[in-house]
Amino acid sequence: MSGVSIFLWVIVPYVCLAIFVVGHYWRYRYDKFGWTTRSSQLYERRLLRWGSPLFHFGILFALAGHIIGLGIPESWTSAVGLSEAGYHAMAISIGAIAGVATLAGLAILIYRRRTVGPVFSATTRNDKLMYLLLTVTILAGLSNTLLGNAIGQSANYRVSVSPWFRSIFYFHPHPELMAHAGIGYQVHAISACLLFALWPFTRLVHVFSAPIGYLTRPYIVYRSRTPQQLGNRPTARGWERVGGPRG
Ligand code: HEM
Repeated sequence: MSGVSIFLWVIVPYVCLAIFVVGHYWRYRYDKFGWTTRSSQLYERRLLRWGSPLFHFGILFALAGHIIGLGIPESWTSAVGLSEAGYHAMAISIGAIAGVATLAGLAILIYRRRTVGPVFSATTRNDKLMYLLLTVTILAGLSNTLLGNAIGQSANYRVSVSPWFRSIFYFHPHPELMAHAGIGYQVHAISACLLFALWPFTRLVHVFSAPIGYLTRPYIVYRSRTPQQLGNRPTARGWERVGGPRG
């Protein structure tokens, strides 16, 4: 096994995962009030209304596909009677729709970020790096799904990329599996690892937010105008209303 393979498929993934875990702990301890999407809805809504749902619903479906494709061994799906051809037909149809929606959403969000002045001003250097890694990861992933199937290479990712991915979590890594995977899969996996390392230092921390109602609430929680809208809930310390009954 070459040193490059060990570096790329053992050292990089473990270092990135360690930064992901320790980074989230650090961010939660020291930047609780910065645990936010840093929403820019106040500056622009029209493009956000299209870009954000396209991106988020696309990525949720892609995530479900990854849990199945990377987490479930080929032998298990065969054992329940799902043939490889059947599995890939499902993966390419759902995966392609999810991937195209994610990419279209991301393109709208990046276009918005670049062209709407106040949104661009609120974009940090970390954000720019995050968008770059997201774009590379998603482009490489989608090209694997589309081209990999077209040139017949996708058939083998469940016996190369997927067992390598699982081997990282068994603490018994198999770098040789990735060393022989196609270049598209290699670029996708490395940019995903780098994205995981950057994750805790970006707005992506909002993915780990509770409660789940966060998925459906407005981007920004606006204050209610009338006392009736507040209900009977007692005011928490530090959140007293200012300026009398109409606040
Ligand atoms: C090390 C982690 C990852 C591995 C091993 C991995 C592996 C894969 C594989 C094998 C495919 C092709 C699926 C097929 O052809 O059916 C794929 C597609 C894709 N990946 Fe990943 N991936 C990883 C992380 C990510 C991340 C972090 C993102 C997004 C930020 C992402 C986004 C996508 C998208 C959008 C597609 C195309 C649509 C789809 O098939 O779901 N991947 N990935």
